[in-house]
Amino acid sequence: MNILAIETSCDETAIAVLSVQGVFKKTFSIKAHQIASQAELHAQYGGVFPAMAKREHSRAIFPLFVVALKEAGLYKESAGSAIRTEQLATILAREPEVLEYILREMPKIQKPNIDRIAVTVGPGLTPALWVGISFAKALSYIWNIPLVPANHMEGHILSVVVPDGSGTFSAKEITQRLPSISLLVSGGHTEIVGVKGIGKYELLGQTRDDAVGEAFDKVARMLELPYPGGPHISRLADMARAQNSESIAPLPRPMLHTPDFDFSFSGLKTAILYLIRDLGVLSENQKMAIAREFEDSAVDVLVHKTLKAVKKYKAKSILVGGGVAANKELRTRLTHEASLLGIPVIFPTKTLATDNAAMIALAGYFEKPAPLTSDKFIAQGNMKLR
Ligand code: KG4
Ligand code: ZN
Repeated sequence: MNILAIETSCDETAIAVLSVQGVFKKTFSIKAHQIASQAELHAQYGGVFPAMAKREHSRAIFPLFVVALKEAGLYKESAGSAIRTEQLATILAREPEVLEYILREMPKIQKPNIDRIAVTVGPGLTPALWVGISFAKALSYIWNIPLVPANHMEGHILSVVVPDGSGTFSAKEITQRLPSISLLVSGGHTEIVGVKGIGKYELLGQTRDDAVGEAFDKVARMLELPYPGGPHISRLADMARAQNSESIAPLPRPMLHTPDFDFSFSGLKTAILYLIRDLGVLSENQKMAIAREFEDSAVDVLVHKTLKAVKKYKAKSILVGGGVAANKELRTRLTHEASLLGIPVIFPTKTLATDNAAMIALAGYFEKPAPLTSDKFIAQGNMKLR
């Protein structure tokens, strides 16, 4: 089965083709993996603007789709076939630019060997989600290919089952790891999810204010580092560790000992704001020291609460997902602490950790198709895992 997947929930337009073969033992291989990032554009504003994200998705999505089809070897030119257009204007009412592309370019493309289309319907930025959803509906309509809704967070959870972009696993291999605790850490989310099975999730805790990636980005901004700030903070923090310097000022560990699995990162951010205000113009060494204090504090609470959830849930593994899963300190500390309990921590590979469409194809593989008129294809900015 070939699955075409479309992801536009935040600032990455992503299209992937995933091939799934086999009956008991499934082989997953990524045939196309295209990402057009808007990060540089949003960088100058220090965050993602929904209206701007939507505009960029509308511009990027059709050309990226053609590149993905070519990468998967599924692109064939057509001499100019007639396409179904009756309902296209309605389906793409929100996306005039995409409609224009489709009317001009689609008659030149032969229907590809795709069995299913998956699209992210939430959570994310609503105007951005709509671009992907409208485009996916249009493709499904024109080529008569079943469409499935996918949850972005489920995609992050499942992204750890496809190591290196391709892999095999059997149902037994998955159940051996379950129940599992998933730590989802990105620019928009900080969640601890209990995973009883694929499609069987329980939200155990989440951030009450900023997401941890957002906190990394905001602290980076205070230190005049580029957006997205996570990797830059991490780099400076590592340099501080290498120097083995003294702590510049110990920061709080917000909600470390609360009896729940919730997080709060906005206080940490404010503490750093005051620290910077007191220090005045920062030297490079001071920036490194602050980055380290912040990273240590954030990682402390993430690791502590995740392990607490592991014990309570009697989990057999930890699955990490989201952009912050790339953080080296988090990886090292979580792996070490989990090894003391004798359980593995599974991280997505670099290409699958940040937003991408291969993970959406995976989520879509485990979902059922729905009719185009279904309310499942309405953007759900605050969609929850069920
Ligand atoms: O999952 P993602 O690509 O996009 C969403 O937010 O959905 O995550 C992006 C976030 C950004 O906040 C970025 O600063 C953070 O992940 N990030 C990191 C690292 N790499 C990316 N945070 C800490 N350490 C990193 N190495
Ligand atoms: Zn994400």
